[in-house]
Amino acid sequence: MNTKQKTRKPDRLPHRLLRVCGLGLALSLGSVEYGAAAEPIKPIPITIEVNEAKAELGRRLFHDPRLSKNDTISCATCHDLSAGGDDGQVVSTGIEGRTGFVNSPTVFNSAFNFKQFWDGRAHTLKDQVDGPLQSRIEMESIWPDVVTKLFQDEDYPRMFEESYPNAAQTISRENIKDAIAEFMRSLITPNSRFDQWLRGNTEALSEHEKEGYALFKRYGCVSCHQGANVGGNMFQVFGVINDYFRKRGNITDADLGRFNVTGNEVDKHAFKVPSLRMAAHTAPYLHDGSAETLRDAVDAMFEFQLGREAPDEDKEAIVAFIKTLSGEYQNYNYGSDLVQEVADESQEIPVASGIQEISTGEAAGESQEVPVASGVQEISTGEAAGESQEVPVASGVREISTGEAARESPPADIAETISKNGKARPLRTGRTTRKASKSGKADGPLRTGR
Ligand code: HEC
Ligand code: HEC
Repeated sequence: MNTKQKTRKPDRLPHRLLRVCGLGLALSLGSVEYGAAAEPIKPIPITIEVNEAKAELGRRLFHDPRLSKNDTISCATCHDLSAGGDDGQVVSTGIEGRTGFVNSPTVFNSAFNFKQFWDGRAHTLKDQVDGPLQSRIEMESIWPDVVTKLFQDEDYPRMFEESYPNAAQTISRENIKDAIAEFMRSLITPNSRFDQWLRGNTEALSEHEKEGYALFKRYGCVSCHQGANVGGNMFQVFGVINDYFRKRGNITDADLGRFNVTGNEVDKHAFKVPSLRMAAHTAPYLHDGSAETLRDAVDAMFEFQLGREAPDEDKEAIVAFIKTLSGEYQNYNYGSDLVQEVADESQEIPVASGIQEISTGEAAGESQEVPVASGVQEISTGEAAGESQEVPVASGVREISTGEAARESPPADIAETISKNGKARPLRTGRTTRKASKSGKADGPLRTGR
C-alpha cells in the first residue's frame, strides 16, 4: 500500500495539503484530542439519507420468507438484525436445511464495503441480492415466482406503485433489488464509543481500550482493517505469513476466495478484509467460521497475517478495543452495555451525550472537514484513510490487492453520491428522504419488525 502511495505522491500533493488544512481546522477548534482526520479509522456518519418509502419496502422484503422457494427462508434468517446482523453459525443453513460454505457476514454497514461477499463478486448491494435469492442452498427462488407472490400481497402492489410510479412494471426484479439495497444502506451503526472518541470525547474509551487501539496500529492490523468500516476496502490473502490452509487442510472451492472471481493465481485465498465494526456480535469468525471467539480470530491474525507472537495482555487489549467499535441501530444499542460501564466509571458521560454533540454543536465545525459521508467517499475512491498519514504496514501486506482497491471505481450505488469535484453528498436517492438513524431511537417505520 505504502509503496504505491509513494510512487503517486507528487500528483497527490494538493490533496495532501487539503488534508493538512482539515487537520489544522480540527485542532484549532480545540475539540479533538487526536483528530478524526489524523486517524486511519474514520467515524461512521451519524446519518445517511435514504428514501424512506423504499427503505421501508426493503425492510419488509428483507424479512419476507416468500422470497424463498418454499416460503421458509428470509434474508433475516441468516442476517438477524437483533443479533449483530448475522446468524451466529459456523456456516449458514438455508432452504431444506442445506448448509453453505462460508460464514455469514453482518449486513450492518455493508454499504461501506467496496464490494460485497467474501470474494467481492458483487459490485453493489443491488447486484448482491441475486446471489442468495437464486442460490440453491439459500433461498432457491426464481424471480418470476417471487414477483407473482408479491403481487398477491395486500400491501406490496400499493407500496411498489408509490415508490416506483414510473416503472413499466411496479413489482419487478429490478425494483425488489433496488428496495432491498435501499434498506441495506439504512443499516448503519453510528456513534460507537470509538467514534465518540474519534470525534473528540476523550472519556469515551478506557485506558485499556486506548492501549488496544494503539497496539492495533502498532502491530499493523490497521494496514488491512481501516477506514470507516475498519475493513471492507481491500482484498488480502489469508495466510500472508503462515499458510493457514495447509495447516487446516481440506481446501474447498470457497477457500480459494477472490481467485474464483479473477482466476489470477495471486488472488488464491484472498478475501475482502472483513469490517470489524460489529465483530463483537458476530461470532464465529473468519470466512470458514473456524474461529469461535474474537480472541481466537485475533490469535489467528497474529499467527497467519503477522507471523508473530504477542503477549496475552496485548491481545486482550486489542479485543477490548474491537468491542468499542459497535454503534447503534435504532432500538439496538450494540454498544450499550459497554457504554454503561464507562458511564459508571466516570459518572459524567450520559449514554446519549455523543449523539447530541455530534448532531448539534459539533456537526457545524466538523462538516468543514469531515463531511457526513466522508467515510463512504474515502472507501469508494480508494483514497484509503491511511493515505493521509503514516500507517504501519504489516510485512506481507499485499500490494496487488490494495492497488486494486485504489483503482476500483466506487460501487455504482455509492458512486452516484460523489459529485464531479470529488465531494461526497448525502446518500440521497429520491425526493422523499429522511434521516435513517438520527438518534438510534426506533422512530417510525424503519423498525426491524421483530
Ligand atoms: C441461507 C443464509 C442466507 C440468506 C437467506 C441470505 N444471506 Fe446474505 N449472506 C449469507 C452468507 C453465507 C454470505 C457470505 C457469502 C459469500 O461471501 O460468499 C452473505 C453475504 C451477504 C452480504 C454481503 C456482506 C459482505 O460483507 O460482503 C449481504 C449484503 C447480504 N448477504 C444480504 C442478504 C440479503 C439482502 C438477503 C436476502 C435477499 C440475504 N443476504 C439472504 C447468508 C445468507
Ligand atoms: C494482511 C492483512 C491483514 C492484517 C495485517 C490483519 N488482518 Fe485481520 N483479517 C484479514 C483478512 C483477509 C481476514 C479474513 C480472513 C478469512 O476469513 O479468511 C481478517 C479477519 C479478521 C477478523 C475476523 C473478522 C470476521 O468477522 O470474521 C478479525 C477479528 C481480525 N481480522 C482482526 C485483526 C487484528 C486484531 C489484526 C492485528 C493483530 C489483524 N486482523 C491483522 C486481513 C488482515
